[in-house]
Amino acid sequence: ETTDITTLLLSRIRDVADYPEPGVMFKDITPLLADPAAFGALTEALAEIAERTGATKVVGLEARGFILGAPVAVRAGLGFVPVRKAGKLPGATLAQAYDLEYGSAEIEIHAEDLTADDRVLIVDDVLATGGTAEASIQLIHRAGAQVAGVAVLMELGFLDGRPRLEAALAGAPLEAL
Ligand code: PRP
Repeated sequence: ETTDITTLLLSRIRDVADYPEPGVMFKDITPLLADPAAFGALTEALAEIAERTGATKVVGLEARGFILGAPVAVRAGLGFVPVRKAGKLPGATLAQAYDLEYGSAEIEIHAEDLTADDRVLIVDDVLATGGTAEASIQLIHRAGAQVAGVAVLMELGFLDGRPRLEAALAGAPLEAL
């Protein structure tokens, strides 16, 4: 079964060379989203991780983490909380800056959407350097909640995101389908 879903998901991810800049191989998930069997299987697999890890909320990372995380939250019967790029959330936010290869980025969360009782599953499409997920873990901890784990469709292993996240996860799982 594992092999079947992996084959299905891989078959629906399109490699786009030299996008968004020369030398980068972009992993385009839009063919997967357009295929109800693949999108449904992905949603089921991520919802199973949410249930297995005892998550009480799903946090999706802008922008593709919204598309994947929202149906997972509904399927698992959990609330959904967005982590957005800075300046997009209207309420009281917590903000976390993190380094990019060149420069830095900042993400935010509505602190009131998480409580001390929450165990959060972070959902995104791709784990690359792990910078976005690591900053999200910091936001969730600063909001007073626990991290149940990180679940992604794809892990780009050569970028070493996993070892970077493992310290921040303190034993919680990082699952890549
Ligand atoms: C991509 C991807 C992850 C992040 C992974 O998002 O969807 O969120 O980068 O990179 P990292 O592990 O090196 O942090 P992107 O910044 O392209 O945002 P978008 O989905 O809004 O285009």
